[in-house]
Amino acid sequence: MRGVPPILLVHGGAGAWRTFRNKMREVVTVLRNALRSGYEVLGSASAIEAVVEAVKVLEDSGILNAGLGSVVDVRGEVTMDAGVMEGCGMRAGAVAAVTYPRNPVVLAKLVMEKTDHVLVVGRYADELARLWGLQKHPGPAKRVLERYSELVKKLREGEIPFKRFKKNYFLAKQLLGSLHDTVGAVALDSNGCLAAAVSTGGILMKIPGRVGDSAIPGAGFYADDHAAAVATGIGETIILSFLTLRTVSYVREGLHADEAARKAMDRHTKLFGEGTAGLIVVDRDGYFDGIYNTEGMPWGYIAKDSGDARVLGLPNSTSSP
Ligand code: GLY
Repeated sequence: MRGVPPILLVHGGAGAWRTFRNKMREVVTVLRNALRSGYEVLGSASAIEAVVEAVKVLEDSGILNAGLGSVVDVRGEVTMDAGVMEGCGMRAGAVAAVTYPRNPVVLAKLVMEKTDHVLVVGRYADELARLWGLQKHPGPAKRVLERYSELVKKLREGEIPFKRFKKNYFLAKQLLGSLHDTVGAVALDSNGCLAAAVSTGGILMKIPGRVGDSAIPGAGFYADDHAAAVATGIGETIILSFLTLRTVSYVREGLHADEAARKAMDRHTKLFGEGTAGLIVVDRDGYFDGIYNTEGMPWGYIAKDSGDARVLGLPNSTSSP
């Protein structure tokens, strides 16, 4: 696909979406709100401001796995990862395993702007969030805790319904839920600058201290002067394939963003199988796409010539309900 800049893309996470079928309208509304808010910012500010605004809306929705809707680890506690990157100037900021901020994506942007580092983790990052006056996270959402209790109950009954993360089942004597995860945004502004932002609660039932792809530039997010990409899915696989750096590198080598995304995802799927990842990407020539090897990955875009926000990638469908 191709659009006229400015262009903004968002996604609500690649995954099975099985337990979320009846919430699809809500998900579409949230994606549209994120696109509209981010695009308003993109009208007067740079791509980095727009992707952070869009991801903030997704974090605040409470129905996606980031910010207020973050899944819990094996202890039933929320720890979150987030990252941002700006292609103009090649700057990035990221946080991992944070518990304090309601909006980890805002903290990641402040790490980029206010420190000399790229990645700050755990309680030290939480201290920065307090220092910079960020809003506090209220703790796990009711829906997430209910799911957690169900999983604990099933494990106690001896059930292990999922193929992945078996070590965690035994380690924690608990289970994983259906995988859908992470939120993200990429943008191309009218000055030709590209940016990426991503935020996640990680993988449900992860062990404390686990960091996924969303905190790692080149894995969960990447932007340079050619393209910007964010990934979603099983972080362990995305880290090993460096999915976003690979996608952006293919653009640098001459492919359009949609071709690059297809090539990178094909390679990823060959290595790690179906049901493992998805990504959104935009390049400096206005080519863009959302692509995934999971059952669904609700994603959407707005470009100058596209009219209102469009949402695609719903399970068993390609357009908005
Ligand atoms: N893709 C998010 C994570 O694995 O943490």
